[in-house]
Amino acid sequence: MPGIPRRQFVQTALAGGVSLIVPHGRSVPLLRGRVRSLLADSHIEVLLDEPIGTIAPEVYGHFTEHLGGVIYDGVWVGEGSKVPNIGGVRTALVDAMRLIKPSVVRWPGGCFADSYDWRDGVGPRDKRPVRTNFWAGDAGLKQVAGGPAKYDPNEFGTTEFVRFCRLIGAEPYLAANVRTLPATAFNQWLEYCNSPPATTSWSGVRAAAGDRNPYQVRYWGVGNEAWGCGGNFTPEEYAEEYRRFVAWSVPQFDVDLAFIASGPNGGDIEWTRRLFAALAERGSLDRMWGLSMHHYCSAPDAGADAIAFDERGWYDLLVSADRIESIIASIWEVMRQADRQRRIKLVVDEWGAWHTSAPIVDPSHLFESQSTIRDALVTGLTLDIFHRHADKVAMANVAQLINCIHSLCFSHGDKFCVTPAYHVFAMYAAHQGAQSVRTLVSGPQASWLAKDGKRGAFWGLNGSASRRGRELTLTVTNASLTEARETEVVVRGGTVGAIRMTTLTASSVHDVNSFDQPDAVMPITADIAARELNGVYRFPPASVTKLAITLDA
Ligand code: AHR
Repeated sequence: MPGIPRRQFVQTALAGGVSLIVPHGRSVPLLRGRVRSLLADSHIEVLLDEPIGTIAPEVYGHFTEHLGGVIYDGVWVGEGSKVPNIGGVRTALVDAMRLIKPSVVRWPGGCFADSYDWRDGVGPRDKRPVRTNFWAGDAGLKQVAGGPAKYDPNEFGTTEFVRFCRLIGAEPYLAANVRTLPATAFNQWLEYCNSPPATTSWSGVRAAAGDRNPYQVRYWGVGNEAWGCGGNFTPEEYAEEYRRFVAWSVPQFDVDLAFIASGPNGGDIEWTRRLFAALAERGSLDRMWGLSMHHYCSAPDAGADAIAFDERGWYDLLVSADRIESIIASIWEVMRQADRQRRIKLVVDEWGAWHTSAPIVDPSHLFESQSTIRDALVTGLTLDIFHRHADKVAMANVAQLINCIHSLCFSHGDKFCVTPAYHVFAMYAAHQGAQSVRTLVSGPQASWLAKDGKRGAFWGLNGSASRRGRELTLTVTNASLTEARETEVVVRGGTVGAIRMTTLTASSVHDVNSFDQPDAVMPITADIAARELNGVYRFPPASVTKLAITLDA
């Protein structure tokens, strides 16, 4: 493995100080009071009196596409399965999801959405047609003979999806097909989901499936990646389609519908500018609740492997993930030109680390790759960015929930485990609905040998903070592979009382969770007396930390 020697990593991570023994046999090293503040090389200042905005719970959203092993083998095992299930939905997944408070789930795609006819997935399950999946021709499925990844049995349709959302306590977010279906099909999907009992024929089909009451689906995506797999439209062409779908007589059914338009490819400013101009010209911008954007990070110059990365692969991926902050800022700036009131928000409905590794669990699990502490760092730094831009980002959906790309979980048959990325979602859940407050972080930069032979530079520590009454949540990522950071934390406008510290790191940065070793990478939690630390915390290298601080009244 071209990576970082395990012994060196562990020694540096745990060097110096008194150790606080915590569960799982690992330890958080502590130095005492004044000695520590003299040694501090980094600083965090939380400014309680400088609110940014409420962190929308929807920022903690998920994405499930009919792609590889996400739906079949991931979410859906079927009612007759030996795998424990609730109405066909994998019980282990439901249990895991409830713990991280998922707010919203996007479905059925992705690229798949623009080839999907929702009518194939309703009515009696045994009468539903089998259709060729959008991804069937992908080179990654060449070795796979048949099965649901290639030929979708439509067992999991709208009703099953909405029930899954209800089981885990999330709102559904449906992506409508703009490329291959007309607007009438979209209107009828709205009828199936939202029309009151005994009003439309589609409400009758829903009732026959057991759901007399409407689903009241609020979030509707109008196409996906319209510049690419969603139709290869120009912004002006897509604006025309968008108007056709949402501008006139969309059945409302007393639901405050939130339409999400397909946004740019990466940071393509021109797409946003031209789309907004075209919609504004015809008075249709008021029909947009959110503009979607996607950001996948990767480290292609360093091999793009999920596990066998070296120092360059570590930092390249973090740098690539961090770019989302400038993309958010630049798209937001362009949106302002047509939306001076700042009514329309950003919806980052696909994000995560996309590695090139082969499927790890089953060949049918297209785009599946392992998750290490590096992916946990990507998760933490990205969520921190969303918090710092709580005034701009109204929703985000990590891609994808299970068995795909930035997986939070893996499953196959009756096996199930969660990834380091999942643990970050659990640690960060306390931010949901809290007030994001300005947080200043400074410290030594991380440095490494970049591809061009020069030294690369990246921030050493970063994070975000939010407040709900006397509860202050501070989350911090230490991007350095080798250096712990002794950090002085100052809370302006409040007094720190009790502190509960949760840290996620790994014995080796190449460690992964698997069905055999599901707890190889796990967070550790410890209660710490404020006076013990004198406001100085040690953030281990390659770690994600949460300080849950109770402010004195
Ligand atoms: O998440 C996988 C794919 O990535 C989605 O289908 C598409 O929207 C994006 O390009």
